Amino acid sequence: MFVPGGSMANIYGMHSARGAKLGTGVKKAGMIAAAQGRELVGFCSADSHYSYAKGASLMGLGSDNMVPIPVDHSPAGRGGMRLDLLEAAIQHAVAQGKVPFMVGATVGTTVYGGFDDVRGLREVCDRHQLWLHADGAWGGAVVFGAAGGKARSLSDGLGLADSVSWNPHKMMGAPLQCSVFLTRMVGEAGLRDINGCGASYCFQVDKNFPEEDMGDMTLLCSRRADSFKLWLLWRAVGDKGMADRVDTAVSLSQRFSEMIRDRAWLDTKGVKGRFVLWRDQDPFFSNICFYYLPPSMSDVEDGLAIWGLPSDDAIAKRVSRVAPFIKDGLQRKGTGGMMGFCGAHNHFRLVFASPIGLTHLDLESLVLAIDLVGATYQESPAIN
Ligand SMILES: Cc1ncc(COP(=O)(O)O)c(C=O)c1O
Repeated sequence: MFVPGGSMANIYGMHSARGAKLGTGVKKAGMIAAAQGRELVGFCSADSHYSYAKGASLMGLGSDNMVPIPVDHSPAGRGGMRLDLLEAAIQHAVAQGKVPFMVGATVGTTVYGGFDDVRGLREVCDRHQLWLHADGAWGGAVVFGAAGGKARSLSDGLGLADSVSWNPHKMMGAPLQCSVFLTRMVGEAGLRDINGCGASYCFQVDKNFPEEDMGDMTLLCSRRADSFKLWLLWRAVGDKGMADRVDTAVSLSQRFSEMIRDRAWLDTKGVKGRFVLWRDQDPFFSNICFYYLPPSMSDVEDGLAIWGLPSDDAIAKRVSRVAPFIKDGLQRKGTGGMMGFCGAHNHFRLVFASPIGLTHLDLESLVLAIDLVGATYQESPAIN
């Protein structure tokens, strides 16, 4: 189903999970009656998109009942949630008398491009009879990556989820808004049962082909034909074009990571500051997170350069001021676009959401533009 945005697709996943756990009678009876006064609780990674928390609030669970599970940011963990901690959180919720109903996985986290181990999550969900939704709004595009490539390998297990969100308007470049909610839910507890209201003044059963009218399967009434955007795009670029977009994004991010690691190359370009990859590691996907240290802050180099993370809060505070300064400078000069910075402490987050036509020269220009602004950064003694 095409839905208005990835957030909405995640909410559809949560709503389906609620119906699967409590039965479609919950629509009329409400949650207190259907769950016999117990609280429903779901789980998602600590790096997941905030729409899971919004969904929990909207559905009356309370956002505290969408429990964030810490993630493993090591290369082996790929930024996915820790299965052992998930298991412990489920058991804790049961011991508290709550009713676990779903796990919200993420396939391509917004900031770090992390991937949950969907196969491992499927096992946990089967053990506890939980719905498994995978938020692939950003990273779901990996299914289009060429067979055997890095992108495609990240899609492992995705087909095991009960439902999936995917935003062709992100990496595939479809015009906004184009979002898909996919589910294997059919038959009795199908989308019509979960979401429908049977309003006969809209969804007449005595018209031709009433079963093809998807209106009552959705939570909305009027909708645009968003499917047309994906259809047209796919027809225009073909499977190869779809694969190229994803594989190019992944290889550009790898290239950028190599560039900023390469001090000898940076020196030949006259780069004055220091670029440090977040956690000193290559990107999981197409998101690259990194710090920039201006020459005036060479004293903090050690902690950051060794671990790719600030060694203490004071350094984190100082480092956090650099990225917003540079972003502001790039915007004022008109030489840089939106380059997010985020996290508990700020760093740059670069994503290749529209990679076709970008070359290594563009990456080089970005490095130089950051350095041009960043090299002028001076700390203000008053706020340190
Ligand atoms: C991982 C992830 N999920 C969901 C969303 C929400 O998508 P939308 O903006 O279409 O609601 C985003 C948006 O950035 C995202 O990165």
